[in-house]
Amino acid sequence: MEMQRPARLPEAHEFTPDDYFRRLAKSELARAGRPLEIDLGCGDGRFLWEMAAHHPERDFLGVERLLGRVRKVCKKIGKLGLTNARVLRLESRYTVEWLLPRESVSRLHLLCPDPWPKLKHHRRRLIQEEFLQAVWDLLEPGGEFLFKTDHPEYFKWAENKVTAFGKFARLDWPEDAFFYPKTDFQLLWESQGKVLQGLRLRK
Ligand SMILES: C[S@@+](CC[C@H](N)C(=O)[O-])C[C@H]1O[C@@H](n2cnc3c(N)ncnc32)[C@H](O)[C@@H]1O
Repeated sequence: MEMQRPARLPEAHEFTPDDYFRRLAKSELARAGRPLEIDLGCGDGRFLWEMAAHHPERDFLGVERLLGRVRKVCKKIGKLGLTNARVLRLESRYTVEWLLPRESVSRLHLLCPDPWPKLKHHRRRLIQEEFLQAVWDLLEPGGEFLFKTDHPEYFKWAENKVTAFGKFARLDWPEDAFFYPKTDFQLLWESQGKVLQGLRLRK
């Protein structure tokens, strides 16, 4: 007799769409009139929960494919009593291209993503023309795409892709421009003496 694996129950604070094959409505992700921010590849979630705690007037969604990390972030959100942050366990590119509602995101953060340093793996990098178009489509007018990496070659790659894409306005991003907590990986890289570079792009 074939054993059936029991379905996994979602964590508290996990966002699970009822249908993964239709585009979501903004009302499923953010309460009326509130800005929606997305943290793609949120990892262990420090940035997400610090941001959510600092901005109770905004709603946040972390996207992360690793179950262990999703569980950890959901637990932390619960422990802090945050009601404006949730986590979606899903692949980032799919989420951006097919799931998130168009013209509805005020800020999309992509922080310390895997740089895929080997030439033969560059096609796995998230920042590609189709991805930039999808980000453009889901940002509301005036919305921002914020990217940081410790990897100089990936940074150059991103700059070139953004220039070729041609639609975003690049803004200055001095460290004190606005509240922007450090991510877990940023803290790790900086403790090793690495320097992060960032792109701040406005629709
Ligand atoms: C290098 S870590 C950075 C995490 C976090 N942003 C930070 O700066 O601390 C990259 C994270 O993105 C997740 N990740 C990588 N590729 C992904 C993908 N295609 N979809 C969803 N999550 C992804 C990884 O599991 C990991 O948690």
